[in-house]
Amino acid sequence: MRLLVVCLGNICRSPMAEGMLRARIEASPLAGQVILDSVGTGNWHAGEPPDPRAITTAARHGVDISGLRARQLSRDDYSRHDWLLCADRDNLRDVRARGPAEAHSRCALLLEWAGMAADTDVRDPYTGDDAEFEAVWAMLDRAAHGVVTRLEGELRARESA
Ligand code: 4NP
Repeated sequence: MRLLVVCLGNICRSPMAEGMLRARIEASPLAGQVILDSVGTGNWHAGEPPDPRAITTAARHGVDISGLRARQLSRDDYSRHDWLLCADRDNLRDVRARGPAEAHSRCALLLEWAGMAADTDVRDPYTGDDAEFEAVWAMLDRAAHGVVTRLEGELRARESA
């Protein structure tokens, strides 16, 4: 199972989500069964490490994302990943518009996909302060449980198919 997390710049939300989900999945019965990656719809920060505030926030929670490097969404990502999970509705619209029609149903909002019915968007913390990065981390943390639960169901369904 391959998951791609998508945001705008690939330096704040999606690398935090990638690092956290990798840590949570590897500590679950799903360890070794899920490949995670992240990208941005924009290319402004391609090749750069995550924003220092994102690195600090993740480190505060015991997750090292300093080795990640930003890259832009590419055509290959649509065939390479089972799900393209987007941080907000703008990202979802862009990701669907750039991809083949076949992939539309595999592009989703991360929080909805994780079953967080009341929330849709992971708000962009780029122009905010440390508290906004911490709020993003807390929201992703709540979503992580739903992500693991859903993945367990999908992998079970695959095994019995
Ligand atoms: P992200 O945040 O999409 O969560 O990585 C942003 C990072 C950079 C920019 C916008 C959002 N930017 O405009 O450069």
